[in-house]
Amino acid sequence: MTSVNLQIAGAPGATCDPDLAAGPWDFDTVPGYGPGASIADVAPPSAPRQGTLPAQYREASEEELHARIVAARATLGSRVVVLGHFYQRDEIVQHADFLGDSFQLANAAQTVPDAETIVFCGVHFMAETADVLAKDDQAVILPNLAAGCSMADMADIDSVEEAWAQLSALYGEEPDADGRVPVIPVTYMNSAADLKAFCGRHGGIVCTSSNAETVLEWAFERGQRVLFFPDQHLGRNTAKKMGVPLEQMPLWNPRKPLGGSTEDELLAAKVLLWHGFCSVHKRFTVDQITRARADHPGVRVIVHPECPAPVVDAADEAGSTDYIRKAVAAATEPTTFAIGTEINMVNRLAAEYPQHTIFCLDPVVCPCSTMYRIHPGYLAWVLEELVAGRVVNQVRVPDDVAADARVALERMLAAKPKVSA
Ligand code: 13P
Ligand code: SF4
Repeated sequence: MTSVNLQIAGAPGATCDPDLAAGPWDFDTVPGYGPGASIADVAPPSAPRQGTLPAQYREASEEELHARIVAARATLGSRVVVLGHFYQRDEIVQHADFLGDSFQLANAAQTVPDAETIVFCGVHFMAETADVLAKDDQAVILPNLAAGCSMADMADIDSVEEAWAQLSALYGEEPDADGRVPVIPVTYMNSAADLKAFCGRHGGIVCTSSNAETVLEWAFERGQRVLFFPDQHLGRNTAKKMGVPLEQMPLWNPRKPLGGSTEDELLAAKVLLWHGFCSVHKRFTVDQITRARADHPGVRVIVHPECPAPVVDAADEAGSTDYIRKAVAAATEPTTFAIGTEINMVNRLAAEYPQHTIFCLDPVVCPCSTMYRIHPGYLAWVLEELVAGRVVNQVRVPDDVAADARVALERMLAAKPKVSA
């Protein structure tokens, strides 16, 4: 059985990794992120591993898995809600009750009070967030526990605590004349629950790519500067758009004393950018945009703000996955779109809007390694286990962590996204 369906309209269809033709279960017991964009990243030893998926699910045809998922869902009825992120493969998306970006999915997790179980087809930090926001008696299931996020894994609680200690020693604790504390921690949604809890404990907040600007405004009302983790690009792109000069945004490298900056640089800083990035969005380049403009005069280039700043600057627009989807949906005239985000979403937009020409900026098909791990085999397995009365792959955030994380997440949910396409 072919496990991926990643051909792209108008692109040669070369993939970044021949292993993508295999089933994700071939990589469950292998350390690392598996094939796709983050294959070269180093997964921390603490990254969850997935146990062996029973053979009947590995060997079933796509049609059989589809039928089994439909049957299990019919038996479970409203006891189960399936949430899906835009980057999921089509074979999963068709079973989602709600499809969205990470902000919308966090919201959705809070607003499905009748379901006993939320099956989260996305990545680990999203499932953790759903568990923090869901009711106490609701279980959240991640069909493949190895569906992490290499960017989220680039910041861990020990390194952030260490950075905080160094910054507190440098800045002190006293607010300025306007009552603003020296530094506010802001974590991107793409982070572990204990980092969200850290922000909750230290007067900070969570942001997503859709509300990052509102969140930074919130933070600057309360603090003189921001420690932004783990995605340097989202932090830089957002603060730059708000007028913060690049020289006031030093990188914080957790492996170096004072993050690799001098005391003077840190004293002048407005935003300290953690040394993290997304391997999917790092693949997009200014050259690709130049080529798209040469090959398709009038092309509209839209990229995700996890792309490096020069790419965002060269694009026509940048926005979250939901922003990109709405921009395409709102175009009334046939338009050519070159999109800089994950391939599954770009392919789906191309299929849904045949009146437009839609292609991925990167001609090489290279999906998010971890979103790729949610295959219908795992979805069929977790649903049939539920039918049999067993909850497998539950993602549970410890109560003390969840309480502090909820504080930062509630602040995030109150900070509504500013721009829509
Ligand atoms: P969105 O918040 O735009 O859904 O993005 C999530 C993500 O992981 C992008 O890489
Ligand atoms: Fe993480 Fe990048 Fe995948 Fe998003 S696309 S889940 S940031 S690795």
